[in-house]
Amino acid sequence: MERVLRPHAEQEYAHELERLAEFDDRGRPAGWRLSPWAVTTYLMGGELPDGTVVTPKYVGSRRLMEVAVATLATDRALLLLGMPGTAKTWVSEHLAAAVSGDSTLLVQGTAGTAEEAIRYGWNYARLIAEGPSEEALVPSPVMRAMRLGSVARVEELTRAPSDVQDALITILSEKTLPVPELNTEVQALRGFTVIATANDRDRGVNELSSALRRRFNTVVLPVPATAEEEVEIVSRRVAQLGRALDLPALPAGLDEIRRVVTIFRELRSGRTEDGRTKVKSPTSTLSPAEAISVVTQGLTLSAHFGDGALHPADLAAGLQGAVVRDPATDGLVWREYLETVVRDRQDWRELYRACRDVS
Ligand SMILES: Nc1ncnc2c1ncn2[C@@H]1O[C@H](COP(=O)(O)OP(=O)(O)OP(=O)(O)O)[C@@H](O)[C@H]1O
Ligand SMILES: [Mg+2]
Repeated sequence: MERVLRPHAEQEYAHELERLAEFDDRGRPAGWRLSPWAVTTYLMGGELPDGTVVTPKYVGSRRLMEVAVATLATDRALLLLGMPGTAKTWVSEHLAAAVSGDSTLLVQGTAGTAEEAIRYGWNYARLIAEGPSEEALVPSPVMRAMRLGSVARVEELTRAPSDVQDALITILSEKTLPVPELNTEVQALRGFTVIATANDRDRGVNELSSALRRRFNTVVLPVPATAEEEVEIVSRRVAQLGRALDLPALPAGLDEIRRVVTIFRELRSGRTEDGRTKVKSPTSTLSPAEAISVVTQGLTLSAHFGDGALHPADLAAGLQGAVVRDPATDGLVWREYLETVVRDRQDWRELYRACRDVS
């Protein structure tokens, strides 16, 4: 386990899940490892009677997670919708880990996703040698989830071609997957459901058909409501990633994180936090995910080439890289923001100078 680059949620948090199951005396829906209450506690964090601390995975509205978990307990599938970097994939992985103890039954939606990825395929060598048989059939992650009574995950559903998406309709409404070649079908066991994610920005790429949309309950994950919430998300994840990368524990870098988050929020919303100055927004996506990588990059720079503490000079290059995606337009936006907003802020001088130096 030590050498695995990124353990699955159910591996990394095995201890929390085990303890939660032990103390969980509420009703569990058929096929679930935990009760809906315990699944929500796993996501939002809490403390168990024996003092075990359950770390928060999702930072934000508890109600939203309750709605998501409740959906999974019904016969409808769950669609997590939102801007890039709003934790759709993250929440989907943790939900699957908590409900089924397995987050790996995953289909990635891309323009090249084929129907076999949702239904089943064939081992052609065996198919030709022996004809169609159970052994020659290659089940998709969705089919395996149906057999196991587990959660199947479909990432970026709207990027898959429409006919591939529609392969889900029968599965979700009839809970069965016919295999005409073998004259059989796979009937889903209780506990089977689907969690799909889709990006707001991709709307219109391959929009969900209304038949499919009706089989999902949609939960929209918002961008963090307040700066404090966003700072918490970023510092939590940076600390976690830092541990995985053997970086020194996050020192008093909270001020720098706060600045990064402020810059991202202001550029995203098009106005300064005090509401007084309008700023232009760049074309880049400035979500918590980008803030996390800017800060992690800064920490890595500082760990290997600096004194291990986070300084503006460690962040400047990463900031510019995140904001300026299109050199022609975003470069101007960034420079204007530096000159009109960053330069005049009292304790931001060092950051201003560092950013000027790289641009
Ligand atoms: N509200 C939040 N609570 C906890 N972590 C968050 C939150 N928002 C963002 N993150 C973190 O941001 C990172 C990116 O999240 P994730 O990859 O799940 O985004 P996504 O919505 O799937 O984005 P994309 O549309 O690009 O696939 C993760 O490390 C996640 O922990
Ligand atoms: Mg994602």
